[in-house]
Amino acid sequence: MSRLVVVSNRLADPRRPAAGGLAVALGDALNRSGGLWFGWSGTVRPQLQPGESRLHQRQAGRVTLATVDLATEDHVAYYQGYSNSVLWPVFHYRLDLADFHSAYLDGYRRVNRMFAARLLPLLRDDDLIWIHDYHLIPLAAELRALGCRQRIGFFLHIPVPPPLLLAALPQHEWLMRAFFAYDLVGLQSEADVGHFRRYMINEANAEDLGAGRLAAFSRELRVGAFPIGMDVQEFERLGRGAEAVQTGEALRAEYARRQLLLGIDRLDYSKGIPQRVRAFRHLLEKYPENRGRSTLIMIASPSRDDVLAYTDLRQELEGLCGAINGDYGDLDWMPLRYIHRIVARRRVPGLCRAARVGLVTPLRDGMNLVAKEYVVSQDAQDPGVLVLSRFAGAAEQLKDALLVNPYDTESMAAAIQTALHMPLEERQQRHARLMESIRQHDVHWWRRSFLQALQEPAA
Ligand code: G6P
Repeated sequence: MSRLVVVSNRLADPRRPAAGGLAVALGDALNRSGGLWFGWSGTVRPQLQPGESRLHQRQAGRVTLATVDLATEDHVAYYQGYSNSVLWPVFHYRLDLADFHSAYLDGYRRVNRMFAARLLPLLRDDDLIWIHDYHLIPLAAELRALGCRQRIGFFLHIPVPPPLLLAALPQHEWLMRAFFAYDLVGLQSEADVGHFRRYMINEANAEDLGAGRLAAFSRELRVGAFPIGMDVQEFERLGRGAEAVQTGEALRAEYARRQLLLGIDRLDYSKGIPQRVRAFRHLLEKYPENRGRSTLIMIASPSRDDVLAYTDLRQELEGLCGAINGDYGDLDWMPLRYIHRIVARRRVPGLCRAARVGLVTPLRDGMNLVAKEYVVSQDAQDPGVLVLSRFAGAAEQLKDALLVNPYDTESMAAAIQTALHMPLEERQQRHARLMESIRQHDVHWWRRSFLQALQEPAA
């Protein structure tokens, strides 16, 4: 059995339960065969020169964690710059927020080259390499340039925009060509696969060999949808834990006479948070019976706050939240509770279970595992209702949610009203069907099917 090598910008100690679904799944895969996990340590060192790094290695069970520190200039150009001020907005269809800056691209290339140089000496001949996310698209090309011949797979956790949007990216040819250094490219949804294929065929003159295979630049790759799932059992276990149970009970007691709505996100412009507040405001306006009765808890945890677009969003959101509470709040009721802090993962299932409506309404999202977590947290006898944006990758799988267009304030408010009044039997039926789909395509299915496809020889 080959050793698995996982590479991602962020990594976590797989033995720690708080590390989250993805880290647990990857850690589990790594633990089976004994593996290596390589990525950024999370530390920025001002004394390092651009392109310089410091490698740390430590053992966590059967997994070796190998991490590098970044120089300040590299962190700014590679992480804040090209990854999060160029690729993140463009891949989420937000050309208006992209900050094209040649120094960012230089830093992105420099760090990918440095990752390759640091990783190469740690590799064995029969390793299977799995690289994750937009920070590291050119990493396989850099490894190949150094002579790496192992099979390399890539999984993109964010969406792929339509070809013409990609083509707006300066140096898009260079970036997209880099995908051909991989043997397998995994995307979140069929929509993403469609965009990727069309780009490669129309813009890169790739030949379509059928069955997801594309040929260009004297190489062949396979692309497919591998929608990421959650670790259902781990999350159910978390839900039975003391903190989740206490959180749920406390909220139910406090809101015994009221209905709770819940949103949990990173504070990110792709999540449609202001649009959600506007829809909730419209709900109170148009369906006044909800005044004094419905409370929206909105947790928007701090994220990438050194990037300007995130600071702007925070200000916009604070204005909207203040206004709704000022206009509709009363001595004994506030419509909205906005929390700009991280809420411990152990409490999340309890929070979700106490909420009659889960609002997952991104403008664009690769998958959105919160949607799945909300469903899994519910009491099957008396489940809440998931209101889900049709623009989240999860919508391809979770057809039994109430699917909404987050840009359409009125119809979103109407869907929330439907969710608040949905009869028990319909809630149970929808929940059962959603659970079936989530269980069938869980995180273990995702990992197994990707790694199996990566090991299949080229046709
Ligand atoms: C998204 C990305 C991940 C990223 C996460 C948190 O889910 O796909 O790659 O790690 O956001 O963002 P951060 O910038 O804090 O790593």
